[in-house]
Amino acid sequence: MSNLGGMPTSADADRPSVYVETYGCQMNVSDSELITGVLSARGYRSVAAPQTADIILLNTCAVREHAEQRVAQRVRHLIGQRKGGRRVRIGLAGCMAQHHREALLARIPGLDFVVGPDGYRHLPDLLESEEAFAEVRLDKTETYDDIVPVRGESVRAWLTIMRGCNRFCTFCVVPYVRGRERSIVPEVLEEELHRIAAEGYREVVLLGQTVNAYRSGGTDFGDLLRMAASIDRIERVRFTSPHPADFDDSSLAAMRDCNKVSPYVHLPLQSASDRILRAMDRGHTVDEYRRLVDRLRDTVPGVALSTDIIVGYPGETSEDFEATSSMMEEIGFDHAYLFKYSPREATRAFKIEETVTEDEKSERLARLISEQEARSLHINQGLVGHDVEVLVEGPAKRQKHWLAGKTAHFKTVVFEPKTTPVDAARALGELAKVRIEAATSHTLRGVEID
Ligand code: 5AD
Ligand code: SF4
Repeated sequence: MSNLGGMPTSADADRPSVYVETYGCQMNVSDSELITGVLSARGYRSVAAPQTADIILLNTCAVREHAEQRVAQRVRHLIGQRKGGRRVRIGLAGCMAQHHREALLARIPGLDFVVGPDGYRHLPDLLESEEAFAEVRLDKTETYDDIVPVRGESVRAWLTIMRGCNRFCTFCVVPYVRGRERSIVPEVLEEELHRIAAEGYREVVLLGQTVNAYRSGGTDFGDLLRMAASIDRIERVRFTSPHPADFDDSSLAAMRDCNKVSPYVHLPLQSASDRILRAMDRGHTVDEYRRLVDRLRDTVPGVALSTDIIVGYPGETSEDFEATSSMMEEIGFDHAYLFKYSPREATRAFKIEETVTEDEKSERLARLISEQEARSLHINQGLVGHDVEVLVEGPAKRQKHWLAGKTAHFKTVVFEPKTTPVDAARALGELAKVRIEAATSHTLRGVEID
C-alpha cells in the first residue's frame, strides 16, 4: 500500500536515513508525510525507529504549553542517548519550531536544527552543510504543490487542501506559526486524489486549519467534497476541521448529495457563552452555532458531531462554564476534545490576565469529561442491536482474531469476523457488516453478519 514497507536493498544501506516522529494534529501527520516526501526525493530512506537514523526529526505542536513540554523532554532524551561515532543530527520541525525559532538552538543544547512549516522544501539543501540552522521564514505562497507525500500504511489518506489560518482567534497560536490561509489549486488535489485511490487507500480526509474556508478560483469546499466523492475506489470522504462561520450552502448540499461523504462533522465550539465567544473573537454566536447544527441535522439526518471546548479562558465565570456544559448536553455531542486554556505567547489573549485558577480549570475540565463520558456511553448504547458498516483498519488490539475499524459516523468498532483466523492483510480496507452487541463510551463491540 505504501513504499515504507519495501525490502531494503544493499544500495539502501548507503543512503542517509531519516526518522520522523509526529506530535499534535492531523495536519502535522500530513506534514510529516510531506517532509518524508521532500527527503526521499533527494535520496533519503525513512526508518521506523530513531536508533538506526542519521537524521531524527520531531514534528511538533505549539497549541498548548503541555504539548511543547512533552517534546522538549523527548528531544532532550534523544540528544542524551546520542553516542559518539556515527553522526546523528536531531531537529525540531513544525509549530513549536516556528513559535520559538532559533532560540531553541540555545535553549536545547545539542539540538542541530529548527525548521518551520514553510521551510520543509529547503531541508535537503540545509542538511548538506554540517552547520546548525534555523529555517523559520514564513512563506505566503508555499503550498508544496509539486511535492508528492510519502503516506503511511493505513486505510486512510490525509490530504491537505489548504494551509494557514486568517482567523486569529485570540487564544490561538496557529496563524502566527503557520501563516496566512493558502488554498491548493484543484488540479493538484485531483491528481493527488487519483494517486491516493491508486495506492489503495479507501478513505480520504481533507485537511485544513479552517478546511471549509477553501477557495481557489471558482472552486469552493463543496466542489472539493464532490470531487473527492467522485473518485472510484475511495469509499469514504471526511474533513477536519471546519469553522462554524465558514459553513455555506454549497458544502451542506455536497454533504447531502454525496453518500461517500461521512455523516460526521467535527465542529469546534470552544465555549457556549456569547461573552466568551466574543472575547475569543470566534466570529459567531451561540445561537448561530445552534442554527448551524439544526441545518446539518436537517441536511444529513443522524449526523454525528464532535467538538473542541476550552475551559478557563480569561474572564470565564461559573455561569459561562455552566452555559457550555448545558449546550453540550443540548446538542448531544458524540465526542468532545476538552482542553484547559493555555496562554500562548504572541497571541492576543496572552496579554489578558488569567482569572481562572489552575484548580478551577481542572475542576471544570473534570466535570465536562465525566458528563461527556456519560453522554457518549448513552449515545453508543443506543446503537446496540443495530447493524453498521465498518471500514476495517486491522486486528483489534485486545481481542485475539478480532478486527477493528470505524463506522461512517466515525465510531470505533471491534468485532468478531465471520471466519477465524482472518487474513489481516486481506481484511484491511474491507467493508464489513457488523451487528452491534455492546457499547462503552469509546468503543462498540459486535459480530460480523452475512
Ligand atoms: N489553549 C487551550 N486550547 C487551545 N486550543 C487552541 N489554542 C488553545 C489554547 N491556547 C484548542 C482549541 C482548538 C484545538 C485544536 O485546540 O479548542 O480548536
Ligand atoms: Fe486557531 Fe481559530 Fe485559526 Fe482554528 S480558526 S486555527 S482556533 S485561529
